Amino acid sequence: MKNTVLSFQKAKKDGTKITMLTAYDYSTAKLMDEAGVNAILVGDSLGNVVLGYEDTVSVTMEDMIHHGAAVSRAAKNALVVIDMPFMSYQASVYDAVVNAGRLMKEGRANAVKLEGGAEVAAQIKAITEAGIPVVGHIGLTPQSVNAFGGYRVQGKTEASAKKLIGDAKAVEKAGAFSVVIEGVPAQLARLITQKLTIPTIGIGAGADCDGQVLVYQDMLGMYSDFTPTFVKKFADIGSVMKEAFARYIREVGDGTFPAEEHSYSIDGEIMKKLQWYI
Ligand code: KIV
Repeated sequence: MKNTVLSFQKAKKDGTKITMLTAYDYSTAKLMDEAGVNAILVGDSLGNVVLGYEDTVSVTMEDMIHHGAAVSRAAKNALVVIDMPFMSYQASVYDAVVNAGRLMKEGRANAVKLEGGAEVAAQIKAITEAGIPVVGHIGLTPQSVNAFGGYRVQGKTEASAKKLIGDAKAVEKAGAFSVVIEGVPAQLARLITQKLTIPTIGIGAGADCDGQVLVYQDMLGMYSDFTPTFVKKFADIGSVMKEAFARYIREVGDGTFPAEEHSYSIDGEIMKKLQWYI
């Protein structure tokens, strides 16, 4: 059954954990959808794990639409959330609504996600009022890496914890149907989860959020540039891929690939005639 904003609400009410993973292409999204994940996030982590940037700042609307549309074509049951990239919503409410609309129309998203708390409440309200479901994202918001001075856990002091609680409430009040909490102490994420009526999705925010999200290259050991503490490697696909690539190189080199079963064939009589044709 297709996951929707209503199934997210029901999961919160029933205490059923929500599962979300990132994907950026058709084949991976199809596997996740078939495995039964509730939601697929076309994250702007695309910038790091697919495009090789050192942060998410350079990711464009065109990048998100291109990869979002590929994922949407694969997701039969998972709810597809597409990230609004840096500066597609910060400058004005108008930009926010127009760009969220593009992610829905051209990327075929079921919802959009944007980073920030009280400072983007007006954008969340306007997008929601345009009929577009919004997922908020608070805590360690990677688009603000330059403002934070690095990727740092948020909400560790009393003042910053109070700010985060205020942000969570502002995002909920503005109309978001769910909120990602990233890089926040587990106890604080638990408190926020208890206080909100919308489901929280944690990443580096402990076990008591209403759901969890991970970047798939991280959980499969496919991205070695940087691995945050909160990542669990569920499989080492990176090593499996590297070994397969090395084997391919060996087998092409020694002539064992392609074998007969990987080749097409032509009638021997025709081949005989062709010998004299040249
Ligand atoms: O871009 C992304 O992958 C994200 C997750 C880390 C939540 O926003």
